[in-house]
Amino acid sequence: MRRGLELVELDRHGVNTAFRADVLEGLAQVPKAIPARWLYDEAGSALFERITQLPEYYPTRAETEILGAQCEAFRRLIPPGRAVVEFGSGSSVKTPLLLGCISPAAYVPLDISGDFLRAAAADLAGKFPGLPVHPVEADFTKPVRLPHEVEVLPKLGFFPGSTIGNMVARTAVDLLRSMRATLGGDSLLLIGMDLIKDRALLEAAYDDAEGVTAAFNLNLARRINRELAGTIPLDKLRHVARWNDTYARIEMHLEATEPIAFTVDGRRFALAKGETIHTENSHKFDRRSQYTLLLAGGWTPVERWLDSEQRFSLILAEATRPRNAP
Ligand code: AVI
Repeated sequence: MRRGLELVELDRHGVNTAFRADVLEGLAQVPKAIPARWLYDEAGSALFERITQLPEYYPTRAETEILGAQCEAFRRLIPPGRAVVEFGSGSSVKTPLLLGCISPAAYVPLDISGDFLRAAAADLAGKFPGLPVHPVEADFTKPVRLPHEVEVLPKLGFFPGSTIGNMVARTAVDLLRSMRATLGGDSLLLIGMDLIKDRALLEAAYDDAEGVTAAFNLNLARRINRELAGTIPLDKLRHVARWNDTYARIEMHLEATEPIAFTVDGRRFALAKGETIHTENSHKFDRRSQYTLLLAGGWTPVERWLDSEQRFSLILAEATRPRNAP
């Protein structure tokens, strides 16, 4: 989900047109909501990296623990000679743990941000000198044409971090299906998915004591003010992270601490005291909801691993073979 400097369409005033459209539409609707992808400008991406180091934010540590602990199992279940296609540029810690286990034939990082992509590719090439690395700058939410060098190789998709949880079910299924189209009918997918757990632990992970997640959320309002000539009073918004049990997700909101009125790109908006702008969902799963989602997206689960504290899961799935019955 990290973005940074991505390929963007700017109008003649240098405004990101997709950002403006999403913000104006999102602030006009009831309840107000802005897509989470806009959290990741340069400052937001740097804040997210800090979040992954926080004591309260367990997902990164838990997933890294699983990757380190299950090397034997990966070797057993993932045949050598696969092209590993990573959706989102790899973190310098997680990806080497996987690549070091499975004797891959190539590594293909996919990212919409050329900067992250080149950094990740260079990092990996340094760590695995003999491994062909073919970075692809692309929006992986749509089917991607992979480099011809890896066309004939069987693929392993790698989608860590529980980024799938940032999507509602319909978008998550679309993404899984598009990954299957990108990777082909004989492919495997290794995907990280965060687990439902104690509400207090979840809420703390998204509302840390140091206030880094609050800064990450508020940075969206700051970005609107800077890029879209906004006048949002930042000191009258507060970060809220709350568990929505019906949808099994943490929701991040920006809540008005008093009635406020402001403009964005010349358009007027208002928030009543206590009214919020919904800025992110982070869905959590149990085994059944994971398997339902994967199957709906065209992937059959093969094996599932948890960390020692059972906070996070990593699932290996194979592209579901077409069959007639049942
Ligand atoms: C990127 N994504 C998986 C993170 C999550 O946990 O949903 C984003 C995040 N938002 C607040 N903290 C972390």
